Amino acid sequence: MSIAELDQTARSILIENDQGGYTVPTKGLYPYQWNWDSVFVALGFATFDQDRAWREIEMLFEGQWHDGMVPHILFRKDDPSYFPGPSVWGTSGGQIPSSGHSQPPVAATVIRDLVEADTSGRSEDRAAALFPNLMAWHRWFLAYRDPEGEGLLAVIHPWESGRDNLPDWDDALRAVEVKDIGPYERKDTSHVDPAMRPHKEDYDRYLSIMAACRKVGWDPAEVARTCPFFVADPGVTFIFLRACRDLLVLAERLGKDTDADEIRGWITRLERGAKILWQDNLQAHVALDRRSGKHTNGISSASFLALYAGLADQQTLTALCGHFDRISDKVRYLMPSYDPDHESYEPLRYWRGPVWAMINYMIARGFAEIGDGVRADKLRRDTASLIETNGFAEYFSPETGAGAGGGTFSWTAAIWLTWASPTRVKQAA
Ligand code: GLC
Repeated sequence: MSIAELDQTARSILIENDQGGYTVPTKGLYPYQWNWDSVFVALGFATFDQDRAWREIEMLFEGQWHDGMVPHILFRKDDPSYFPGPSVWGTSGGQIPSSGHSQPPVAATVIRDLVEADTSGRSEDRAAALFPNLMAWHRWFLAYRDPEGEGLLAVIHPWESGRDNLPDWDDALRAVEVKDIGPYERKDTSHVDPAMRPHKEDYDRYLSIMAACRKVGWDPAEVARTCPFFVADPGVTFIFLRACRDLLVLAERLGKDTDADEIRGWITRLERGAKILWQDNLQAHVALDRRSGKHTNGISSASFLALYAGLADQQTLTALCGHFDRISDKVRYLMPSYDPDHESYEPLRYWRGPVWAMINYMIARGFAEIGDGVRADKLRRDTASLIETNGFAEYFSPETGAGAGGGTFSWTAAIWLTWASPTRVKQAA
């Protein structure tokens, strides 16, 4: 396929996955609106339909809970092909049936991008309308995912991290007692090869965590206090820190001085907290189980998001460049979701090794921003060639490039349009 044809296919994927203002990640496997998928999708739409891009994010915020949380899934209509659906979650926090926890908060960053890319001036009003929602969501994260005020955000469920079966969750998940789940039938393994999906033991625990939160009525303070899973995640923490910096720019632009001061305080708190995730022996930021007090022992693709978060001190920078080059020598395509030198690495199992386009995009942005165009471009070229040879898959093998998981995937198409496509590079030049 030519580049022009790939651009066209990417646009068609977004249009076909559009459900009337919001987009499903892919038909079949994921038939609802997912939080960070939608936000990346907005970047893709923005390359050819800015109004539609805003609509995607506005519809996501329609599902925001009264306490500020923006859920990871909005169940706008019932679809029996997906499990666990709304009745299993048993939530009642907002206007739209939803899951009970959040997902990586990329929205403030993308909203800033949309405002800055728009020359018509109309975007600023739409950003202003969403600004209080963003503030409420960010406050919610700090209150209930960092209850001690240390500056690092925990996830209460592996799904909240957006990186479902990452090896970093293994020990904390094993410590979760399997209870209150009853018999259930998974649907994911009927859509894609079970070898690429999480194991049943993991699924039992995913559902046990949900049952524990249901028991406390999804009350956020109670969830933070009692949830059997509570792990500080460098992915969510770095994405949030980055989003706070972008929210600050929006606050300044919109003249929200009091909010701007509050956000500056968050940034200081998070910059301090990030240090707690740093492990000297690994020379990287890694996850920390808040219940056991133990750090994890592997480097994931989120460790590289430190630069995207604006943490480019000399030690971090030298360490990450070293890891980048080592991993680059080891696999054909960057960036595997888990360190290929780690014993838990599996090149085709979801978040235990495969490459994800939107993670590459964020890592590359971090490198580009510190002036390392060579590493940023390596990530872009790898992403482009994965898509050129294997299509718009959910994720890819870092070794062979084979596409895996669901096909015609919305965020892969969106990342192609906004960043990976050579057409974009030409436009930017
Ligand atoms: C999987 C991914 C998650 C994504 C969702 C929909 O659960 O791990 O990050 O949001 O699929 O694409």
